[in-house]
Amino acid sequence: MKIRQVWKRENLCQFAKAELSDYLFIVVSNREPYIHSYQGNEIKCETAVGGVTTAVEPVISAIGGIWIAHGSGDADRDMVDSQRKLMVPPEEPLYTLKRVWLSDEEVNSYYYGFSNQALWPLCHAVDIKPIFDEAQWSIYKKVNEVFAQSVLEEIGNRKAIVFIQDYHFALLPRLIKRMSPEITVAQFWHIPWPRQGSFQSCPWGEEIVRGLLGNDLLGFHTVRHCRNFLTTVNRMVAGSKVSYEKAEATVEGRKTEVHPFPISVDFEQLSQDAQSVEVKGEIERLRGELNLGDKLVGISIDRLDYIKGIPRRLMAIDRFFEKYPEYKGKVSFIQVTVPSRTEIPSYRKLGESIDTLVERINLKHGSGDWKPIITMVGPLPVTTIMALMGMADLCIVSSLHDGMNLVAKEFVASRCDNDGILLLSRFAGAAKELNDALLINPYDIDHLAASMEKALKMPRIERYKRMRRKRNIVRENNIYKWAAAIILELTKLV
Ligand code: F6P
Repeated sequence: MKIRQVWKRENLCQFAKAELSDYLFIVVSNREPYIHSYQGNEIKCETAVGGVTTAVEPVISAIGGIWIAHGSGDADRDMVDSQRKLMVPPEEPLYTLKRVWLSDEEVNSYYYGFSNQALWPLCHAVDIKPIFDEAQWSIYKKVNEVFAQSVLEEIGNRKAIVFIQDYHFALLPRLIKRMSPEITVAQFWHIPWPRQGSFQSCPWGEEIVRGLLGNDLLGFHTVRHCRNFLTTVNRMVAGSKVSYEKAEATVEGRKTEVHPFPISVDFEQLSQDAQSVEVKGEIERLRGELNLGDKLVGISIDRLDYIKGIPRRLMAIDRFFEKYPEYKGKVSFIQVTVPSRTEIPSYRKLGESIDTLVERINLKHGSGDWKPIITMVGPLPVTTIMALMGMADLCIVSSLHDGMNLVAKEFVASRCDNDGILLLSRFAGAAKELNDALLINPYDIDHLAASMEKALKMPRIERYKRMRRKRNIVRENNIYKWAAAIILELTKLV
């Protein structure tokens, strides 16, 4: 198999089978791929949406294995056996999902607390400062230990590869390696790794870095995140040997390879879905229901998170209508937000400030039945998301800092008509690959407003040229290639 080919689900399955079949393959993530919850007396099974499940499920489905995750659904306990396990996917069971139970206190301190109020803001260069709370840190450590135990009790004496997801488990790799050095451990860190200068504010920074150095392979989205991590190791861990050229760090004779693996989307599937009759019907319905007629449409689709830069984007829309009043009544911006981590005060406050801003801007510029900004609250059905992407003249991704941002890639994959303009923050990982987008500085409100105008009057030929180039990039660098590249590195290590 060559890494430079257009990878499909089938190729990835065959490749994984050929390379990893001798190993017990264990995936660890905080969020589970299938969540069972009660709807009245019925139990409903939901699939976790997002890159992790799309990318990792073909691998684990091909070779079998165990996916260990926090069981968060209220019906989860009623679906598992005495070992907290069940086979999934429900319609064609191919691998085992093992659920870990956490108390409310553990979830509050480990997930809402240390993961999302310390590590999340620490790794994203934004206005929100991390909260370092000793009690939360100690429960974060305990939860990592619980997961380590859960992994180790599955492996026994077998040859195994453990593939850990994300910042919820910074300590897990070392805990596993300490108990069983022969297990191959890899991790993908789905968020940025910050500059060493800001990371050193974390009181337990060295322990976190040492935890991650338990990995044989550690992946980030971009070369910059890898280099930031290596610099952090160099400065924080006494006696460490770091090589930027070889992309590795060695501590106490143990080596960790640190490579970029830019995550992506299922390009072919999205392209196919975008052309379905259902999506075409949904576009008609939305245009009617939202009173859009033949108006131009700008869209943004975000998890309600302060890293996404939503308030500044709204201010730029305000500036856009001030500077270019000829667009009043001719363009509407649709803002989809998906509530997230609502237990955390900064997330709740963000929601309130967005509502206030939208109301103010709509009052200031709106007239008759035309609204400058239309808001929709997600999660929305996939057909609706695809329809919004399909009808957009403009998609704005203005994250203040983002590991990758898959909405940008989804928008590109969904535009089989080669039309539509992507305005993309230069601080999103996706900007590295999609440099045919109109790259913006989300802090520069005037420039963002001017870029909106530039996009809306861009000649069709230029729109097509830019979109075609972006599509070729995402087609080749799809989610299956992401997983294949990680497997390829793993095969060199086992
Ligand atoms: O970007 C990091 C990430 O963990 C993604 O993997 C996930 O889609 C997103 O943040 C939201 O995470 P959650 O809702 O599980 O906190």
